[in-house]
Amino acid sequence: MASLPTLIFLLTTISTVFLLLLRKSRYRRLRLPPGSLGFPLIGETLQLISAYKSENPEPFIDRRVNRYGPIFTTHVFGEPTVFSADPVTNRFILQNEGRLFESSYPGSISNLLGKHSLLLMKGGLHKRMHSLTMSFTNSSIIKNHLLLDIDRLIRLNLDAWSDRVLLMEEAKKITFELTVKQLMSFDPDEWTESLRKEYVLVIEGFFTLPFPLFSTTYRRAIKARTKVAEALSEIVRKRRKESESKNDMLGALLASGDHFPNEEIVDFMLAMLVAGYETTSTIMTLAVKFLTETPQAMAQLKEEHDQIRARSDPEAALEWADYKSMAFTQCVVNETLRVANIISGVFRRAMTDIDIKGYTIPKGWKVFASFRAVHLNPEHFKDARTFNPWRWQNNSEAASPGNVYTPFGGGPRLCPGYELARVVLSIFLHRFVTRFSWVPAEEDKLVFFPTTRTQKRYPILVKRREESRQCIYEK
Ligand code: HEM
Repeated sequence: MASLPTLIFLLTTISTVFLLLLRKSRYRRLRLPPGSLGFPLIGETLQLISAYKSENPEPFIDRRVNRYGPIFTTHVFGEPTVFSADPVTNRFILQNEGRLFESSYPGSISNLLGKHSLLLMKGGLHKRMHSLTMSFTNSSIIKNHLLLDIDRLIRLNLDAWSDRVLLMEEAKKITFELTVKQLMSFDPDEWTESLRKEYVLVIEGFFTLPFPLFSTTYRRAIKARTKVAEALSEIVRKRRKESESKNDMLGALLASGDHFPNEEIVDFMLAMLVAGYETTSTIMTLAVKFLTETPQAMAQLKEEHDQIRARSDPEAALEWADYKSMAFTQCVVNETLRVANIISGVFRRAMTDIDIKGYTIPKGWKVFASFRAVHLNPEHFKDARTFNPWRWQNNSEAASPGNVYTPFGGGPRLCPGYELARVVLSIFLHRFVTRFSWVPAEEDKLVFFPTTRTQKRYPILVKRREESRQCIYEK
């Protein structure tokens, strides 16, 4: 007679094998996109990570697209995943958010963001909060309220730069300060800097396994999240007591008539800090890196900004008309977004069995709409893997979101910060190139995992342009 544990083991094994066979036969009937699920459990995760940790991750996608076509099946981060390198399919995925697909973030990110964050919201509430967020960041708000502070805070930061600068770190500091100002009207001081230090720990936790028992980074992130949330709650509580409302995002949330409880407001603010932080600061850094490596583009950009500077007092605040006259700068911003692909694509989960291009994506499967694969495909962009800002001259592609160019996503989750990010980048480039000349302090490599970044945070040696001019005259 078999013992009870042996019986349990046998029964569990038989039922697992039975379920696996059942699933396999269902998948066979469904006609899944072609591809390989790789090794058991880890699938093709290691191949993906090693490709994205290099300067040239493209072969990971290229090989599979050549073999299986632009929609293929893989198995990454513990789940079978349908990968789309096809712009029409990507558009279908983005547009059907909430109907056929829903956004899906790893456990670590969801826990740290908080359940009321816009990134995690679903359905009608998401729709309402998305449009509310858009109303805080649209062109007229930027033009009439935010521009002045963006320009002022960027200048304030640049005033302190000398000699060796870790550009990625400085860009992050600027982006954080700008978001805090837009959210709750605080100028940078000790309080904002200590908030930033805690907040950086939260971000670090995004890219670890969400198991407090095994990961010190994750434990630290959870603690930091609590501290940041407490600090923000305190601000919200104080604000509720003030009689006069302020002209910032917090003021708008409190006055909106939705009667949001404190916890929801805090989650919302935390998500806003997260969403624009790494993204905008990395693009600031990479725009400078790509320009440094493309001297002709650098010269043309400098000329554009020197002309704007010549029109008025260099220390006077920039105006909306100045921003609107930065035509070549927009080409540089578009091209940096295309080549760098800070958000290389988005994960979604199929809410039902979905038929697409002759294949079926089974209900519950993950889908990855790869923007990077489309942006770097020579079928859609000539010499796609070269930084060429001139391709955007007389090109309306950037103005029509949802086509092949989607650095800000699309559909109901289109990035609400798309215009704000452009303005911040343009003003930063203006102030940076008109004030400084620079050279890279060391060679630095671009990598793409866990996020797009340069390995050494792009150290540069800066010199004030007045000083460099003086040096030339002195010789
Ligand atoms: C270069 C800078 C930026 C890039 C490349 C970028 C890109 C994106 C992308 C691709 C998405 C869509 C994610 C999805 O579909 O799941 C997104 C969403 C979002 N972005 Fe941005 N973003 C940038 C800057 C900003 C800024 C400055 C803000 C601040 C206002 C912001 C706020 C958000 C928010 C709140 C979402 C979530 C929208 C939702 O789920 O409904 N982003 N961003």
